[in-house]
Amino acid sequence: MFRERFANINPFRSLGLRIFLIICLVGILPVMLLRSIILRSYETRALSVRVSEIQNQCTILANHLVTYGYLTDQSSETVNAELEQFSALYDGRIMVIDGDLKIIKDTYSISQGKIMISEEILRCFDKTSISRHDRKNRYIEFTTPINDIETGSVIGVILTSVSTDNIAETIKIMSRKAYLFTIIAAVLTVCFGVFVSINLIKPFREVNMALIRVEEGFTDDKVSVPAYNETMVISESFNRLMEKMKTLEASRQEFVSNVSHELKTPITSMKVLADSLIQNDDAPVEIYREFMKDITEEIDREDKIINDLLSLVKLDRTSNDLMNITNVDVNKMVEDVLKRVRPIADKEKVDLILESIRPVTAQIDEIKLSLAVMNVVENAIKYNKENGWVRVAVDADHQFFTITVSDSGIGIPEESLAHIYERFYRVDKSHSRMIGGTGLGLAIARNAILMHDGAIRAESTEGVGTSFIIKVPLKSLNVTTAGSIKDNEETEEEEK
Ligand SMILES: Nc1ncnc2c1ncn2[C@@H]1O[C@H](COP(=O)(O)OP(=O)(O)OP(=O)(O)O)[C@@H](O)[C@H]1O
Ligand SMILES: [Mg+2]
Repeated sequence: MFRERFANINPFRSLGLRIFLIICLVGILPVMLLRSIILRSYETRALSVRVSEIQNQCTILANHLVTYGYLTDQSSETVNAELEQFSALYDGRIMVIDGDLKIIKDTYSISQGKIMISEEILRCFDKTSISRHDRKNRYIEFTTPINDIETGSVIGVILTSVSTDNIAETIKIMSRKAYLFTIIAAVLTVCFGVFVSINLIKPFREVNMALIRVEEGFTDDKVSVPAYNETMVISESFNRLMEKMKTLEASRQEFVSNVSHELKTPITSMKVLADSLIQNDDAPVEIYREFMKDITEEIDREDKIINDLLSLVKLDRTSNDLMNITNVDVNKMVEDVLKRVRPIADKEKVDLILESIRPVTAQIDEIKLSLAVMNVVENAIKYNKENGWVRVAVDADHQFFTITVSDSGIGIPEESLAHIYERFYRVDKSHSRMIGGTGLGLAIARNAILMHDGAIRAESTEGVGTSFIIKVPLKSLNVTTAGSIKDNEETEEEEK
């Protein structure tokens, strides 16, 4: 399963692979570096030891050459034997060059009698000895001055070249061993890398498997992988997300069942009314008229529910409808709302009072906010007492305007205050139904206010009356609904 899901994923971005590569790099590179440093420093050391050893011998030899006057007469058996022995001992070649740059002795007998002009020789006559290592041909070459005993001046030069074969051979053997060691270290590092990377990412695989199990519905269990802080945080975030989704799903199901129920009720009533008319052949015209009136009322109710639901969807904070923001005279807007509901107030014998504390102009969507005010004022009239009153006050400060709708009505119980904005919530279902309420009015009002970054709250005393306070910024912060969610919630919190 794990493999199937990750078939299209770039393996080079895997955490496990990266850990593995880092371990390999950290494990193998230093070993390789160390190997070449050790070999190189051994070579330098061995060469310098060899050069200084032979140089000493050459100085002694130079003194012998002067003592025996070898530069003028090369017949000394002792010196010739010494030179040959020296050449054999160090597996090298010795050339003795006199003051005329003539090679008076070559232990290889190749260049004897020839003239030798080279930078090294000339510099040696200037008392600067030079040693040169030719790694490719494996030899060291260096010069030793032959000094006159009395004057101390350079009267000749010994040019020595000795083979470095034995040093190269030792390095070769050491290098072979070091290679073996590097390979063993590399194999061990790779094994360690595989082991560590598999074990380090194991908890992440566990989190993923747990998420897959939950996603595929095999279990409702909470994900818990406490191996690392990181996996713990991921698990907890996922669990919280699942809780949120469950709550959302529950509220969605409740909404759907409420909608179906509310839409079915008028249809059931209409069917009952129509059936009883069909079954009663001799029903008088008055009965027909009365039943048809009831059917029309049910149709109106159904129509209202559908319209309310459509408004609710339109005013959903997450809908992408653009707000039609204009400069609106709020006092005039509230006056128009009151004009529209006055017939209902008159019918209910409720006194409707408008109190414009100060003139207010705000940047709002007039249609949406009128709808909100209308729903709140309608409630204040509907849930009022006979000969009661509804007072609507419009006020503002430098940042917000408020519309306060107070009534002398039946009031809302304390425990219901937190629920009245929920869709289909009604405090007294039978009473609400009697006066034609579906429980969508305040949900619509609240959504419209939230779209303006505003807030709504209610204060109520049962049997005395209720006040709804709507508070909206004079200048709307956002023009579209999409970006408003966060600001809305903050405003709400502030309001609380
Ligand atoms: N001013 C008020 N006084 C007393 N109770 C109120 C008042 N306003 C709202 N309520 C209570 O809050 C509930 C929810 O109100 P809401 O406006 O959402 O629904 P409704 O009035 O029942 O139906 P609708 O407005 O959709 O026709 C109402 O059923 C009522 O019980
Ligand atoms: Mg209402």
